[in-house]
Amino acid sequence: MIVLSIETSCDETAAAILDEGAVLSSVVATHWMHARFGGVVPELASRAHLNLLLPILDQVMADSAVALENVEAVAVTRGPGLIGSLLVGISLAKSVAFARNIPLIGVNHLEGHMWSAGFDNPDLEPPFLALLVSGGHTLLVGVEGFGDYRLIGQTRDDAAGEAFDKVAVLCGLGYPGGAAVEKLSAEGNREFHSFPVGMSGQQGYDFSFSGLKTAVANFMRRNPTVVSDHLSDILAGFQEAAVNSLLEPTLRAFDAFGYRTLTLSGGVAANGRLRQQLTQAVEARGGKFLFPGFALCTDNAAMTGWVGWRRLALGQRDDFDLSGEANLPLPGLRHV
Ligand code: KG4
Ligand code: ZN
Repeated sequence: MIVLSIETSCDETAAAILDEGAVLSSVVATHWMHARFGGVVPELASRAHLNLLLPILDQVMADSAVALENVEAVAVTRGPGLIGSLLVGISLAKSVAFARNIPLIGVNHLEGHMWSAGFDNPDLEPPFLALLVSGGHTLLVGVEGFGDYRLIGQTRDDAAGEAFDKVAVLCGLGYPGGAAVEKLSAEGNREFHSFPVGMSGQQGYDFSFSGLKTAVANFMRRNPTVVSDHLSDILAGFQEAAVNSLLEPTLRAFDAFGYRTLTLSGGVAANGRLRQQLTQAVEARGGKFLFPGFALCTDNAAMTGWVGWRRLALGQRDDFDLSGEANLPLPGLRHV
């Protein structure tokens, strides 16, 4: 089945074409105009989606050499995300599905991220433990089957990507700043200053980043000259604490629940230090650690298309009353 997928939940406008779940083409345009505001401006994002979506649709069709007449279903992100942004993608998806009289399916953005480690690792099979780390979410989910998810841990305050972004803004690195923080950290000494690791020494599988973020802000305020001379050292110390704040609860859960496979996904999964530390820790346990290529870590429509294709194959469809949902929870999520 040839699926056209559309993703407009936040500040990336994206479309993809998949054939039986394999990606034929995928195009992503990132809205850089939010950088100077230190965060996504919802109205600007909606307008950018309106301007970009049709050209991106043309591009993705041309890249795949699939004609619109040959598309057999449309998948679209329906949440969570910015409501105005979601509605732009949903409106186009409905128009195509209506004009061509083909099935429409709404997809949960988080579910898309969660399965994206499978693109380069087609043997990915449940059960596995999924660590999903993005700008808006930090979730630890036990994946027992497609659509059968158990919530093991989540952040009690900020998301992991949000902590990277807030520290980047404090340091004048713009938004989103995760990649810039990683780049500068590579030149720094992570032992120059130790920042607090969230939930360290505690039981359970939840995460916390607000103490770390505040500690960095306080350190910078109290030591302005050290900061200007040692920015990369401070960022390396922050990154190390952020990575350890993710590592500790994740590995506790990996050991406690007896999973043999860990996946990492979402924008923060692009972080090399996080990948390196988790690779070592999971290998030391004799387990398998899988993560997507860089292009599939941050928002894209390939992941939306893959989940849509799986749901369509299960006979699921949406009607034209499909709407966006800003706080859409992961479908089939059990709190255990
Ligand atoms: O998944 P995503 O594209 O959007 C959301 O669904 O939120 O994730 C974006 C987040 C941002 O917070 C960004 O700073 C972070 O991913 N990010 C990184 C890196 N690249 C992107 N964080 C740490 N290290 C990176 N290399
Ligand atoms: Zn995302």
